[in-house]
Amino acid sequence: MADTPKTATLTIDGQSYDLPIYSPTAGPDVIDIRKLYGQAGVFTYDPGFTSTASCDSTITFIDGDKGELLHRGYPIDQLAEKSHYLEVCYLLLYGALPTAQELENFENMVTRHTMIHEQMHNFFRGFRRDAHPMATMVGVVGAMSAFYHDSTDPSDARQREIASHRLIAKMPTIAAMAYKYSIGQPFVYPRNDLDYASNFLHMCFAVPAEEYVVDPILSRAMDRIFTLHADHEQNASTSTVRLASSSGANPFACIAAGIACLWGPAHGGANQACLEMLKEIGSVDRIPEFIARAKDKNDPFRLMGFGHRVYKNFDPRAKVMKQSADEVLDLLGVEDNPVLQVAKELEAAALADPYFAEKKLFPNVDFYSGIILEAMGFPTSMFTPIFAVSRTVGWISQWKEQLGDPQMKIGRPRQLYLGDTARDYTDIENR
Ligand code: ACO
Repeated sequence: MADTPKTATLTIDGQSYDLPIYSPTAGPDVIDIRKLYGQAGVFTYDPGFTSTASCDSTITFIDGDKGELLHRGYPIDQLAEKSHYLEVCYLLLYGALPTAQELENFENMVTRHTMIHEQMHNFFRGFRRDAHPMATMVGVVGAMSAFYHDSTDPSDARQREIASHRLIAKMPTIAAMAYKYSIGQPFVYPRNDLDYASNFLHMCFAVPAEEYVVDPILSRAMDRIFTLHADHEQNASTSTVRLASSSGANPFACIAAGIACLWGPAHGGANQACLEMLKEIGSVDRIPEFIARAKDKNDPFRLMGFGHRVYKNFDPRAKVMKQSADEVLDLLGVEDNPVLQVAKELEAAALADPYFAEKKLFPNVDFYSGIILEAMGFPTSMFTPIFAVSRTVGWISQWKEQLGDPQMKIGRPRQLYLGDTARDYTDIENR
């Protein structure tokens, strides 16, 4: 980030302040307001951070108007088509596509960390059977800091590296165990002869009583879902991870914070909410009713899987996901799937409606992902845990980048205080 001669001038009560402007490699210019309070004694106000860059980063770039998503400069559609999840993990973590040897070493490293400490099995058993797998994941991932003491120090580069590999490797095991526990089936140990996605499917769907062979097409679809969700720059959960980490918290605690944030229906929970909505709509003739509800200001209902803070055009991940939904349903011989039919008709109806066009609301990544996951056999409660597995590498890459930034400071926003000014305490008998 080089200083440029460009400046913005802010005038308050006749006094002018020059604020440096930085030009990024892509995206809009950024005004540096770090010294504003010190110089002018004012804060800026930006709830939801709609106009605020919280950090500089070299990992992911989104052009929301074009509908473009780049990881280290590579377009997501090329990565989804030509690459695979672990290669994308390497790219996000280390900044370049790996050589064959680097990839092999990385895959070996991740594969050999897939088991979790045996004592953690007892930890799972402490949860109620009907716990949402996200609740279990928040707890278990946070608890990793109680089991892996040799990789909790964020100031030690070697420990950071080990924690990164552990988290990427163990997250599918933890998500699969959360699922198995919720349905009362025995845990299935990871298998190092399987690739990342196949191993996850195996841990979720195998039972000790019989052999389970992973279908390579389903494994490819799973890998593509992981790839499409791998990172998304400074979204809510990633910013949560960075904020937690800014205090020096250990990596497992930071990722647990990210999982908690991801759970909400406005973020990662939207895939579950979207499929539930598509099922509630049920048939194409009810679409107009739901479109009308989404447009009604007095109705809190929103079209789940539609709209995005950054994309004001098609989410490029949604396009790949739609194609994948067709492929997977085709493979599984699911003809005329009513939910997919409702999804396609709903998408077409919303895109043709001026309300959605004016507000630039397009399908996001969650619109079609639930249909694929359900066809694979996952219950809706597993959709967000799968998102958490995929996004772990994004959280970790951003966390590592932040810790390597000499400008890192504890995150501490200001506020526009509108409460009472100082007043004297009143004794209870006088209130
Ligand atoms: N259905 C109907 N109207 C919508 C929708 C929607 N899905 N999304 C936004 N709008 C409308 C809002 O009512 C608002 O209208 P107004 O200007 O008349 O008040 C306008 O569009 C802007 O919406 P905001 O909520 O201000 O936009 P914001 O950027 O804060 O929210 C969000 C983005 C949370 C994703 C929103 O579009 C939404 O709730 N979508 C549904 C949930 C969803 O799919 N989330 C997944 C996001 S992707 C991800 O996390 C992987």
